[in-house]
Amino acid sequence: MQIYIEKDYNDLSKKASKIIADFIKKNPKCVLGLATGSTPQKTYDLLGKMRKINKTSFKNIKTFNLDEYSGLSANNPQSYHFFMKQNFFDKTDIDIKNTFFPTDFAPDYKKYDEKIKKSGGINLQILGIGSNGHIGFNEPGSKFFSKTRQVKLSKNTIKDNARFFKNKKDVPTKAVTMGIGTIMSAKKIILLASGKNKSKAVFNALCKKVSTKTPASILQSHKDVIVILDKDSAENLSG
Ligand code: F6R
Repeated sequence: MQIYIEKDYNDLSKKASKIIADFIKKNPKCVLGLATGSTPQKTYDLLGKMRKINKTSFKNIKTFNLDEYSGLSANNPQSYHFFMKQNFFDKTDIDIKNTFFPTDFAPDYKKYDEKIKKSGGINLQILGIGSNGHIGFNEPGSKFFSKTRQVKLSKNTIKDNARFFKNKKDVPTKAVTMGIGTIMSAKKIILLASGKNKSKAVFNALCKKVSTKTPASILQSHKDVIVILDKDSAENLSG
């Protein structure tokens, strides 16, 4: 595991976008696994800009999103389909036909894992982390070999996600997520975390024993993980 601690969110986003752009340049037909949320937002923005600055092309990549809320249509501004379109896809030359979301495979989510496999597997998976240590929407207690499925969101996650919704009652309580097994099958993983509210989860994930109580701790057993943190999220790591 390689760990970078950057000064702040901006530097974290620069570092992540550079690593991802270099990867795409070397592997122009790669398959990416994508996270949504506030953490990767600037990374996606910078990647979009790189298209112009250093001619990174996304034309031949395929993408599989980690998760999507149940019950929100793709054109709902709170959906992850919408987020990706607005924050990443529309800023690149990606072929929208090559972008996939687990809810599009309802109700047979096994097909999402099969589709990933048929595409050659995920070469580079981008992850954020929940304040409770979740990855994707694999909440504490999720099985390490789990596959894509519908899950109930924890109270903690519903509370964290409420900041994106006008009314509390509109915050989805269910989602479809890649499983931890699906995530761990990715050949390379980049985990991003920013802000003091992630420092406990980051500490538990990186420094404590691997446990289903902190789903992200399983990443300790993956052979190719890059962790990019800002100082705030790394405040509990010493030395
Ligand atoms: C989103 C996802 C989640 C988020 C996590 C952190 O696709 O899979 O695991 O990465 O909830 O969200 P932010 O970045 O908004 O703090």
